[in-house]
Amino acid sequence: MIFYQKKKETMFCTFMVLEKIMKKQLQNQKDIFIEQLIELLKIPSISADPHYKEDVKKTAIWIENALNHIGCSSVQIYETEGHPVVYGEVLVSETAPTVLVYGHYDVQPPDPLELWESPPFEPVIKKTDLHPKGAIFARGACDDKGQMLMHLKAVELLKKNNALTNNIKFIIEGEEEVGSDHLEKFITDNKSMLQSDIILISDTGINSIENPAITTGLRGLSYMEVSVTGPNRDLHSGLYGGTVANPINVLCDMIASLHDENKRVNIPGFYDQVEEISELERKKMNENGTDENSFKASIGIEAVMGEKGFTTLDRRSIRPTLDVNGIWGGYIGEGAKTVIPSHAHAKISMRLVPNQDWQNISQLFEQHFKAIAPKGVKVEVTTHHGGNAYVTPTDSLAYKAAEKAYKDVFGVVPHAKRDGGSIPIVPMFEKVLETKTLLMGFGFDSDAIHSPNEHYGIENFLKGIETISLFHPYFSKLYEDQ
Ligand code: BES
Ligand code: MN
Ligand code: MN
Repeated sequence: MIFYQKKKETMFCTFMVLEKIMKKQLQNQKDIFIEQLIELLKIPSISADPHYKEDVKKTAIWIENALNHIGCSSVQIYETEGHPVVYGEVLVSETAPTVLVYGHYDVQPPDPLELWESPPFEPVIKKTDLHPKGAIFARGACDDKGQMLMHLKAVELLKKNNALTNNIKFIIEGEEEVGSDHLEKFITDNKSMLQSDIILISDTGINSIENPAITTGLRGLSYMEVSVTGPNRDLHSGLYGGTVANPINVLCDMIASLHDENKRVNIPGFYDQVEEISELERKKMNENGTDENSFKASIGIEAVMGEKGFTTLDRRSIRPTLDVNGIWGGYIGEGAKTVIPSHAHAKISMRLVPNQDWQNISQLFEQHFKAIAPKGVKVEVTTHHGGNAYVTPTDSLAYKAAEKAYKDVFGVVPHAKRDGGSIPIVPMFEKVLETKTLLMGFGFDSDAIHSPNEHYGIENFLKGIETISLFHPYFSKLYEDQ
């Protein structure tokens, strides 16, 4: 017993020493790490655009080299039917816990280019109000190259100090931004290679450095495309206007009818499976709610809008939604052209919450959308991709280890929050690998992911590396003690 206590004390002591040493090393090496991130950000790995296939491949090779550089073994680029997956591992012992780190090296298209203050693939560091210590501006800086790289650097630091006490497996993919279509097959085919005790991802956000959070939920997604076809050709709007169903008018009516007067989604069955959250729990969640004024100011709006009876925080985390992402048809060139278009199109996405099944929701949408089509038009509905929502437990060893790491780095215990975005592979990991995911993201909502001028704070990057490099020893310690 005494021996045991002693051992604990020494461990605690060495832990504090390690913490200090790594912090110092991180300070010394930060410029190198930032340079590496800049190099990675220069490669335009746009997964959605086939023109960039070679660049996506180049990025996979960059990751392969980076994994080799930090001393991973079994490093390999796995080809898929889409973009490649990069894998590498550091195995320290058979009895140690294993952490599977997931990230994505692909990025969203940078359009509209003219709104970027500096070119999206020529990273620059600039100070902003929210990033007084500077932020790196480039597509993918926050989502997810910067956040993914933090994990490699944390493991590098731990290895260098002989302090890596977990087995680490890295799986870095190139298709997250287009729905991770081929990753399910990859993880199903490589189940034993990917076995782990916890999956760790940095691809979400915190509200601020002063009040950091661990993400405990992600929303699901159903992404649809619809077409409405009317007459067999574009028509003169004087000769035919008022006599036929105009596909754009019809599409607008149909879309407008998808919400009721309380801004609830008007699709039969849409809410049937929705997870009900108790008033008490909602109240607790809203203690760290969205500050309405700064929220409005940050995106330049005068009023918020959403489902009646819910706060802005609820609406962007625990409630399902439906939004048009794009709509087109008819004449959109210079000047005016009097025409009734033959067809009209829209892309519509639905964010889903726990217990809603994305395939079921896609089906409900399709049935309903076809059912509300008036005579005189033909409606087509296709499902692009989707994924289910995810909620992670807060009483796990991994969550507790993360709490300790955040407390050390940020000085406060992080709160739990559910995010509105989606990472479709996370529920898939749970289904196929039967492993839980811990979401330790460090971006800010204001970092403009998917938008022009995406950026990632240098402080977020460094604090992220520090937090991750403390998470690992805390996790193996709790694992050992359990
Ligand atoms: N990293 C984001 C998801 C995210 C961001 C979750 C911030 C929580 C907070 C991810 O890269 C992403 O953009 N996901 C897509 C889904 C995908 C199928 C295109 C999304 O949420 O739209
Ligand atoms: Mn991402
Ligand atoms: Mn993204």
